[in-house]
Amino acid sequence: MVIYGVKDYQEMSRKAAGIISAQVILKPNSVLGLATGSTPVGAYQLLVDAYKKGDLDFSKVTSVNLDEYKGLSGEHDQSYRYFMNANLFNHVNIRKECTFVPNGLEEDGAKECARYDQLIESLGGVDLQLLGIGGNGHIGFNEPAGIFTKGTHMVTLTQETREANARFFSSIDEVPTHAYTMGVGNIMSARKVLLLASGSNKAQAIYDTIFGPIDPKVPASILQLHGDVTIIADKAAMALVQDKL
Ligand code: PGA
Repeated sequence: MVIYGVKDYQEMSRKAAGIISAQVILKPNSVLGLATGSTPVGAYQLLVDAYKKGDLDFSKVTSVNLDEYKGLSGEHDQSYRYFMNANLFNHVNIRKECTFVPNGLEEDGAKECARYDQLIESLGGVDLQLLGIGGNGHIGFNEPAGIFTKGTHMVTLTQETREANARFFSSIDEVPTHAYTMGVGNIMSARKVLLLASGSNKAQAIYDTIFGPIDPKVPASILQLHGDVTIIADKAAMALVQDKL
């Protein structure tokens, strides 16, 4: 693991955008695994800025997102498709038909999960997977569990995750109860992983990810077994590991 402790959210975002830019420059037809949430917004903004300056070209890039709420259409302003369009895709020259997010409106979970796994395979896998991390150590919507789930699957969201995301909805009752997510197997199959964390509520999860036992109760801990992981975490998120590195 390469671990960067940085000052704050801005520095985390700059470094992350630098790594994603390098990936796209070195391999213009990269398959980027993308993430939603507050964490990557700053990095996406910097990628948009770089594109507008003429420094980045997304015309050959393909993207696959980690997850999507079940039951929300891509037009719902809290869907992850909407988030990706608003924060990145609408502002760069990526071809929309080459951007993939699980289909939240597909009722048949088994069908949608099989389709998504097949899609990732048909793209030749993910070159660089960007990840945020939940305060409970989740990656994508792989919540703490008794086992690691390999492929794309449907999950019941924990109360903790629904409460954390309720700030984006008018009430917690509106937060969907289920989601589709890539499994840890999909994430581990990515050739490179870039995990970002900002804020003191991520400190325990970052400690457990780096130093804890590899345990499905902290899904991100499996990244210890990946050969090419970069973690960029700000001071607050690094609080429990700073002295140990
Ligand atoms: P956040 O979410 O970026 O909004 O903190 C990260 C996650 O839950 O994976």
